[in-house]
Amino acid sequence: MANMVQRLYETCKDVFKNGESGYVPPPADIQRLTAVLDGLNAEDMNLTSIMRVLRRRRSRQHDPPAVIYIHIYECDQFSIGIFCLPACGVIPLHDHPGMTVLSKLLFGSMHLQSFDWVEIMPSSIKQPQPGRRLAKVKVDADLSAPCDVSVLFPAAGGNMHCFRALTPCAILDVLGPPYSQAQARNCTYYHHFPFTPFSSDGGELNGDVDGEGYAWLEERAKPESFIVAAAPYSGPTILER
Ligand SMILES: [Fe+2]
Repeated sequence: MANMVQRLYETCKDVFKNGESGYVPPPADIQRLTAVLDGLNAEDMNLTSIMRVLRRRRSRQHDPPAVIYIHIYECDQFSIGIFCLPACGVIPLHDHPGMTVLSKLLFGSMHLQSFDWVEIMPSSIKQPQPGRRLAKVKVDADLSAPCDVSVLFPAAGGNMHCFRALTPCAILDVLGPPYSQAQARNCTYYHHFPFTPFSSDGGELNGDVDGEGYAWLEERAKPESFIVAAAPYSGPTILER
């Protein structure tokens, strides 16, 4: 194989050939793709100079620094790209409708928080206000490279997630299928609020509902503070087939 990036492309081409919204590749395919991502590092993608730039960047209070996106490849079935975050950079809480997403932290440390919808809300729980939906916390943890690849699915694995850089970091994202306005796979952003277990009769629930690990999510417009600047990909060229 010519290079690791080419190997990633070839594997995605096979694993995501179905291309349908909501398609979940079988575990063996996810394992194969994860193994390729495990073998990839920042040097394979020629990120050395951007790492230097990110490390020099200082954050200002109340002003999250811009996130850099390096687009590598996109077709109807999948997309590959890298988000580079300076320290304190944030990718706000957003979803991946109908997608399977593999995220590999290439370098640095970040805090990952992810959620899945609670599909059947217990009748004893009252929605605190219209527009808020109950979600279950999937991950709420600090990650430092090298670490396991994160995998999310259309309805599991933490389909809604946010990243906060603890140090300058870079995340390689593989999306299958990619965002598409034509296919109604748009990105939605969310606010999240702590779970307060009020019962449907207005009283507070005690004992039977554990608030740990839940949150209320509410749709929001794309945060104005979320600024993404594009940078060119300078790693090995992908040969399409
Ligand atoms: Fe994402």
